[in-house]
Amino acid sequence: MTTCYINGKYKPLSQSNISITDRGFQFSDGVYEVIAIYNDKFVDLNLHLNRLKTSLNKISIKISLNQSQIEKISQKIKKLNKISMGIIYIQITRGNQNPRDHKYKNDLKPNIIIYSLKKDFKKLDKLALIGVKTALYPDIRWLRSDIKSISLLGNVMAANFAKKKKSHEAVLYDHNNYVTEGNSSSIWIIKDNVCYTHPLSYKILKGCTRNKLISILKSHQFKFKEKTFSIKSLISADEVFMTSATNFIMPIVKVDKYLISDGKPGIFTKSLREEFIRAI
Ligand code: PDD
Repeated sequence: MTTCYINGKYKPLSQSNISITDRGFQFSDGVYEVIAIYNDKFVDLNLHLNRLKTSLNKISIKISLNQSQIEKISQKIKKLNKISMGIIYIQITRGNQNPRDHKYKNDLKPNIIIYSLKKDFKKLDKLALIGVKTALYPDIRWLRSDIKSISLLGNVMAANFAKKKKSHEAVLYDHNNYVTEGNSSSIWIIKDNVCYTHPLSYKILKGCTRNKLISILKSHQFKFKEKTFSIKSLISADEVFMTSATNFIMPIVKVDKYLISDGKPGIFTKSLREEFIRAI
């Protein structure tokens, strides 16, 4: 049985219900976070809690919990559910509103849920040894992908397109054929010993794993540029990889029908993944 924190109470997940008048349910009016737990440790917890605060501010949702209270609840959920490998899921919506109206009332009480899922990160460690295949998909999402919104239909469509193509992830590209990000990850290439990823803008999420990796790259004096790159550069890169809370650093060895280099995980990608895991 999984225990869920829901609006101040701890309940079995199966009994954790939210009203159908919830604005998250009706308008996707809310935000979320996914935080990994690896070998009993939270991964980049503060980065995720800071981003949650930023997302809430961007859509003007005010909550009564502060960052350290959210951390304490997450710790308690981890303990109650005995999670040593998994994720914490946090979702905050603007609250219930009846009658339904696009315009929100200012006095709504946000619905806050926090629960955990087990995840076999060791299986992902094995997958990282061979790398993953990805599928290209147009970035059909809205123009505020910087907000970690629960409105994920574009991402869901991309992810399921990838699934149909027997791929691990969809790589999204804009109308100029420039890569933005993955359906739920940041995308990176390495070319001539320089690492590239999309610059921060409304087009992508500011990934916490991305942030962490940038510090690792800087500390190793690895050349790094936040610069857009095209599909052509992607498929002709020396190495390609994706980063996210649920994949850490995952080598990409194939994009559609195109093998990346020799179709094996790149040497830098491998060592960056090792370094990332060491730093947890
Ligand atoms: N997604 N871009 C998008 C669109 C994402 O959904 C995610 C993460 C990332 C990577 O961010 P981070 O490194 O902070 O996990 C980039 C999570 C894992 C999810 O939706 O499940």
